[in-house]
Parts: sequence; structure tokens; C-alpha cells
Amino acid sequence: MTVEIIPCSETMAAEIRGVDLAQPIDDATAEILLQAWYEHVLLLFRDQHMNNQQLKNSAAWLGERSQIAMPVDRRGDDDIEIQKVSNILDDAGKPVGALGDGEMWFHHDNSFTEAPDKATWLYVVELPSSGGNTMFGNCYEAYDALPPDLKKEVEGRKVLQVYDFTVREKPAREDLENIPHCWQPAVVQHPVTGRHALYLDRLMTAAIDGCSAAESDELLAQLFPYIERVDYEHEWRLGDYVIWDNRCSVHARRNFPADERRLLKRGKVEGDRLLAANAAAA
Ligand SMILES: [Fe+2]
Repeated sequence: MTVEIIPCSETMAAEIRGVDLAQPIDDATAEILLQAWYEHVLLLFRDQHMNNQQLKNSAAWLGERSQIAMPVDRRGDDDIEIQKVSNILDDAGKPVGALGDGEMWFHHDNSFTEAPDKATWLYVVELPSSGGNTMFGNCYEAYDALPPDLKKEVEGRKVLQVYDFTVREKPAREDLENIPHCWQPAVVQHPVTGRHALYLDRLMTAAIDGCSAAESDELLAQLFPYIERVDYEHEWRLGDYVIWDNRCSVHARRNFPADERRLLKRGKVEGDRLLAANAAAA
């Protein structure tokens, strides 16, 4: 079957037709998917039907599957490669998944780890009657859109990426000892495309180096709006599978009715340490 690549917007995302991810992907198709993924940052596959084992192999064309970082006691499931993103409670009133309800601010997945996962995929199992769209922002575009003075301010800096799994709000700058955190380049160079991408977000970026706490807050406040762009908003349908590049995109979730069930399955592909844009260019 011929593979079709249909862009979803001017700046990001493409729908792939003619690929059944439940089946092994041949080398020629894998090459087409890789090229499309690097070009469009996010790929959408509709009408997919996969069991957990097929899901675990669904991104083999891209790399090795990664393990779920969230502690087992906070996500209601002990599968180390598939995480349930859900608001559903079991018969005993215990959540079957995690991160299940409400809206979620723009963020890069796993930016608080030394070698963040390069890709995340989501696969829909159950949906509410409305809401819960996922918005995606292209961080190459975010970087390119910075005015020259802000670009100069941010180049060569590092940002402190922090995530406390118990909260969904801006993390505290202090008392990081028991909270996953990592300093990352504020601007990364993509290892394949070579393009520069802004790598900070309101959910996880607590500080920028080389300035006082007040200056850091002020600079980040100026930078966040550039990241929070909706290049593509995905309205989920049953059978949808979406896979995106975490090094050059952010995502956020819109709210949905709290009393309706929503279940997605999520997995990731291993990544390497990030390259700082300035160091890579030197
Ligand atoms: Fe996420």
C-alpha cells in the first residue's frame, strides 16, 4: 500500500495513511516515516487497532522503547513500558492510570532527566463526549520567532527543569533534593535536523542560569509565551495514534468533563543527552 503524508497545518504535524502500525514496518516504510517525522515533528495515524504488545513495538522504526519514569504507586499500573493516562477509577475507587483529569500546561516530556526520551506516543482507548484536545507547539518556530535581543539573552544559557509528579503547577525553586530535576540547554540543537529549538516551558522550567531569581523569573516570563503556541490542535478520535518529537515540541491538554471517562495509553522512545545549540555550532 502506498504511504501518504498529509500535512495537518502550516507549521507542524502530518497524518500518515497507508500504514498499519500493528504489523512489522519494512525498511523502506521506516525510512519514509523517519523523514516525515523529522520534517513534521508529529505524525498522526488514524484507525489503528493495537494490543499492548503491538503498541510496544509501534515505534520500533524510531528507536528503543523507554521505561516509564513515573513511580508505580502514582500511576495505578506496573507495566513499565505503557502508561495509562486516565481519570477512570476501578471498582475499589482506585485510579487505573495517572495524569487523568483537567487541563495540563505546555511542557516537554521528561526534560528533567539526563537523557530525555526523544519521542512520546499516545493511543486512544476511551474518550469523553467533548474536550481533552491535545495542543502542540513547534519549538523550532518558537526559537525562530524570538526577537534578536531575547535570542541573544537565551543563547548559551541553561535552564533548570524540575518535575514533582504530585503537582501540575510551577515547581518550587528550593528543596529540590527529593524531586527529579536536571539542568538542560535553553536552546537545543536537534541531532538530526540540526535546527535550533527553544527548550523551556511553564510547567517544568524553574530557573535560568546566570542571573538572580528575580531576573530569572522575569526572563522566563518573557520567554514562555513564545513556547505556548498552538501549531496543531489534535481532536482525538477512537483509534488515533500520535507520536511526536520531544526535543523540538511542547504539548498541553485542554479540559474535559470530569465525570466522563477518558483513557489513553502512552509510551516513549529512548533519547540521548541534549545538545546545546551554541556548543554544537562552535
Ligand atoms: Fe506530556
